[in-house]
Amino acid sequence: MFQYLAAGFRQAGAEIVAVADAAPGAAARAAEKYGIATSYESVEAMLKGSPEIQAVSVIVPNKFHKPLTIQCLKAGKHVFSEKPPALNAKEVKEIIAAAEKAGKKVLFNFNNRARPESQAMMKYIKDGVVGKINSAQAKWIRRTGIPGFGGWFTTKDLSGGGPLIDLLHMVDLAMYFMGYPEPAHVLGQTFSDFIQDKQFKGPWGIPDRVGGTTDVENAAHGFVTFKTGQVLSLQVSWAEMIKREEVSVVFQGTKAGGKVERLFGIDGLDNTAIDTCELYVQENGNSVNRSITTTACEDMGRIGSAANFIEAIEGKAPALNTPEQALRLMQVIDAIYASAKTGKPVAI
Ligand SMILES: NC(=O)c1ccc[n+]([C@@H]2O[C@H](COP(=O)([O-])OP(=O)(O)OC[C@H]3O[C@@H](n4cnc5c(N)ncnc54)[C@H](O)[C@@H]3O)[C@@H](O)[C@H]2O)c1
Repeated sequence: MFQYLAAGFRQAGAEIVAVADAAPGAAARAAEKYGIATSYESVEAMLKGSPEIQAVSVIVPNKFHKPLTIQCLKAGKHVFSEKPPALNAKEVKEIIAAAEKAGKKVLFNFNNRARPESQAMMKYIKDGVVGKINSAQAKWIRRTGIPGFGGWFTTKDLSGGGPLIDLLHMVDLAMYFMGYPEPAHVLGQTFSDFIQDKQFKGPWGIPDRVGGTTDVENAAHGFVTFKTGQVLSLQVSWAEMIKREEVSVVFQGTKAGGKVERLFGIDGLDNTAIDTCELYVQENGNSVNRSITTTACEDMGRIGSAANFIEAIEGKAPALNTPEQALRLMQVIDAIYASAKTGKPVAI
C-alpha cells in the first residue's frame, strides 16, 4: 500500500517528511526505498521529532487504526487512515469525537470510490440519470484468497473479522452510490468452513504464523434495509467455491440500472483484470445497455484516493468520504456479525 499512497500524496504536491514503524529497522528501510529523509520506530517519537508534520497516514493492522488516529488528531494532525475505519462502530464514534475536538479532518482509504469507473458512475447518479437507487448488490468474492494463516488478518482481536471487514469496499461503494442512507435492519450469516484449509490460501497477504490464531470467517452474506426503503444484499469472501474472483456493485434505479465491476483473470492479479462500467435503460421501446469507457487504473484508485486526501485538507477538492459514512458502514458490519451470532435480524 505504501508505494501507492506515497505516489498519491506526492502527486497532490505533499512532501513526505517522515515514516514510522514499530518493527525495528522497518521505517529506516522504507525511508531508504521511498526517498524519505527521516524515520522513527514509534509514532510518539515521530510526532515529537518532526513537529512540522501536518497530516499522518495510518497504514497498520486494523486494531491500531483507532488508537493511532486519535493519537495523531490529539497532536493536531489531519489523518488518512487505511480501511476498515476501525474495529467497530463504537470506535468510529470515538474517532469522530476526537476529530471534532481537534478541529482536524479524518478520511479513510476507500480507494475503490476513486476508481475512474466509480467516479464516472457517480456523475451519472448525481446528474439524475439513474433516479433513485431502490436496490443494490455488492460483492467481493474470492475463491482462494485467505491472506495467510495465524497472522493479524485471521486473528479477530487484531483485525475485527475476516473478509467482511477486510473486503468492505463494495459495500461502501454501493452505499456511496445509494446516497449513504441510514441502515434500519440487517440480516446476515458468516461461514468458517475453509478458514483453516491451506488449499484456500491467497497469493498475497502476510506470511503464515505457526501457532498463531485463525478465528475469523471465510465468507459472509447479508441483507440490509435502509430507513429510505432502499435495500442492499452483499456477499464477501476470502474462500468460497465460486468460478473466479469478482468485485462488483450492481444496482437497480427508478430510471436506470447499472454495474461497476472488476473481474480478475487469475485471483488477485491486477494486470489481468477487466473493468466494466455499464448503465441499463429503456429507450424508445428498446432495452439499451450503455458501456462507459474509462481510463485503465490498475491500482484500483489507491493513488487517486491518497491525492484526494491532500486536496481535501487543503480545501481544493471535496473529501471523497466522511467519518459519518464510515460510522454507517461499520454499523452494518457490526450488525451482520451480531445477526450471524444470534441467527436473528438486527435493528440498528
Ligand atoms: N486499501 C487497500 O487497498 C489496502 C490494501 C492492503 C492493506 N490495506 C490495509 O492496510 C493496513 C496494513 O496492512 P498491511 O497488509 O500493510 O499489514 P502489514 O502487517 O504488512 O504491515 C503493517 C505494518 O504496521 C507496523 N505497525 C504495527 N503496529 C504499529 C504501531 N502501533 N505503530 C507503528 N507501526 C506499527 C508493522 O510493523 C508493519 O510493518 C491494514 O489495515 C489493511 O486493511 C489496505
